[in-house]
Amino acid sequence: MVSSTHLNKKLVSVEGLDGAGKTTILNVLAQNFDFTLVLREPGGSPLPELLRAIIKGGPAPVNTFHLGELSRNFLEQAVEETDNNRLKQILDHALSKQDTMVGEIPELPLAAREELLLFNAARAQLVEERIRPALEEGQAVLLDRFTDSTIAYQGYGRGLDPQEVKENCLQATAGLLPGITFYLKISPQTRLKRIGKRGSADRIESSGDEFFARVAQGFNELADSEPRFVTIDAERPLDEVKEQVLAAAVKELPSEIGRL
Ligand code: TYD
Repeated sequence: MVSSTHLNKKLVSVEGLDGAGKTTILNVLAQNFDFTLVLREPGGSPLPELLRAIIKGGPAPVNTFHLGELSRNFLEQAVEETDNNRLKQILDHALSKQDTMVGEIPELPLAAREELLLFNAARAQLVEERIRPALEEGQAVLLDRFTDSTIAYQGYGRGLDPQEVKENCLQATAGLLPGITFYLKISPQTRLKRIGKRGSADRIESSGDEFFARVAQGFNELADSEPRFVTIDAERPLDEVKEQVLAAAVKELPSEIGRL
């Protein structure tokens, strides 16, 4: 099955390897253009924050939520597929209680397919709860990572079939994609140099050089094949990268997203 896609021009994402300067660039975009919402993935509301805590390790938020239909499908699929009893228990709790009070989350070993389903459960919930309602009200939304990260990390990086990962992502967003994706391009070597200065690495960050070489290749192939990508040379000093992004944003962002 090939899902149909809807590119929404008021939805903008920023993608790239860790260490590419994403946080700075997101701030530049948010300070210069009229984005009502800036959301990071995975995260952005209680269930996605719980799933972030499972994926990355760390404390879960304490909150209730209303489970969306699409995210329910992904969670149920994860429960059905996983052999990990603690993960099953946490997800069962989220499904039945619709709260995030699951207690201490241990560091869980996750298979590639489990990672995929958790990222997409988080994404489906974020789309349903926050992104789609904002877009329907005419607001512009800026995303720190979106479906392309899943294709690059879980597809190319973890070795799942990129085409199947893409299809899985489109199910999570019901076909919604950003109109523009700024891709901050750095080499895996530059990532290593920059990340080395940052200290502790989580499960994904400590996945090894070959993993990140494949992720970089994934982003590069996506950027070359999809016209919505605007590739920025993020090897340059950060001030120059900021200038490049600002110039590209002025040129590429639709007039519906006002300038501040
Ligand atoms: P985060 O701390 O937000 O890192 P960054 O600042 O680099 O965005 O953690 C997100 C991590 O999860 C990051 O290593 C990329 C990874 N990731 C995936 O593997 N798949 C995904 O679909 C997404 C959204 C993120």
